[in-house]
Amino acid sequence: MLPVIDRAKLYMNEARIIELPKIIDERGNLSFIESKHIPFEIKRTYWIYDVPGGEVRGGHAFKEQREFIIALSGSLDVLVDDGKTQKIFTLNRSYFGLYIPNGYWRQMLNFSTNSLALVLCSTSYNEMDYVRDYQEFKKAKSDHAK
Ligand code: TYD
Repeated sequence: MLPVIDRAKLYMNEARIIELPKIIDERGNLSFIESKHIPFEIKRTYWIYDVPGGEVRGGHAFKEQREFIIALSGSLDVLVDDGKTQKIFTLNRSYFGLYIPNGYWRQMLNFSTNSLALVLCSTSYNEMDYVRDYQEFKKAKSDHAK
């Protein structure tokens, strides 16, 4: 018998956009998230708002935490760095979210006026899980690759 491939698990280690359901309705559209849409169990949710023009947030990596970022309103860019390659994802629709596995450096920038970014996390808040020094992050990635 062929093994059943769980697509969510297959791409667990890749930062990528996930499209959420969208119910189009002339009274106003509706989107939603169920646990099956993202590759982790949600332990915490926070949101970022009232960001002054030109500000940058979130320059760090997580050892364990995986996350899913949605621009509920407005737009922002998320720079994702795996230690070798950097990619910028633009979030500007509330039915697209960016999944970021643990072990990626990420920054949030170019917030539009009145943007509202929702972040779903796989862990409770734990300062010990942060890597806030970019050189330390790079070193951990290259040590891991050996
Ligand atoms: P932080 O994740 O460091 O944000 P950024 O990387 O954008 O600067 O969080 C900023 C502060 O908020 C930090 O002192 C910890 C606190 N915080 C919590 O207490 N709980 C949370 O869930 C988050 C995300 C942050």
